[in-house]
Amino acid sequence: MSIVLTNVTKSFSKPPIPMIKNINLTIEKGEFVSLTGKSGSGKSTLLYLISSLDMPTSGTIEIDGNNISKMNSKEIHSFRNKNMGFIFQFHYLLPEFTSLENVLMPARKAGLLKEKLILAEELFEKFDLKEKMHEPPGRLSGGQQQRVAIVRSMIMNPAYIFADEPTGSLDSSNGRKVMEIFKSINREDKTTIILVTHDTEFANYSSRKITLVDGEIQTI
Ligand SMILES: Nc1ncnc2c1ncn2[C@@H]1O[C@H](COP(=O)(O)OP(=O)(O)OP(=O)(O)O)[C@@H](O)[C@H]1O
Ligand SMILES: [Mg+2]
Repeated sequence: MSIVLTNVTKSFSKPPIPMIKNINLTIEKGEFVSLTGKSGSGKSTLLYLISSLDMPTSGTIEIDGNNISKMNSKEIHSFRNKNMGFIFQFHYLLPEFTSLENVLMPARKAGLLKEKLILAEELFEKFDLKEKMHEPPGRLSGGQQQRVAIVRSMIMNPAYIFADEPTGSLDSSNGRKVMEIFKSINREDKTTIILVTHDTEFANYSSRKITLVDGEIQTI
């Protein structure tokens, strides 16, 4: 169980300009990896590639032995829903649903709505959001919405969590709380965590730090 990137390049625009340049990287099951680097260095782009949300321009990406460019979109969707939790830089909560309904969306898709209700309630409690469970995200503060997105990423007990600046709109105490929770699920459930952060304190929670410079991994 691992994610293996081989000679991965990602280019945008015309003429194509490489923003991720020939990256070779293996992330083993159970690792807690932080991804840091300046704004525009390619962190989000790399996270999208690592998590199968985007395809490389060249090179290959294997997740748990599957070459993701050879999987059809149905296979990828179902694999992601079962095995991956995502926390985006801009958290895409659905405004027409309550926070609880948002969190349970992956469970609904997998036909596990009833089974996951208790876990959802426990997580809302853990993140200090119990009284906001039945409110739509639009009535929550930015930091509360971000924590709802974190709860949603955890609801399927995924093998992988991909987080892009998950603490960006949290105060330092809530930020630390999220990091402690990541650390404990990494340790106890062996969840692989890949965390983009510009905060060096939070990067220190990880067991491996990767720094991107202009689309390349900095070797020290
Ligand atoms: N869809 C796209 N089309 C064109 N260029 C893109 C696209 N996505 C990203 N880029 C470019 O790729 C580079 C890396 O972007 P990326 O979002 O990965 O940076 P980042 O390290 O996550 O920055 P930040 O810390 O600001 O979030 C930037 O120069 C950006 O303009
Ligand atoms: Mg980014």
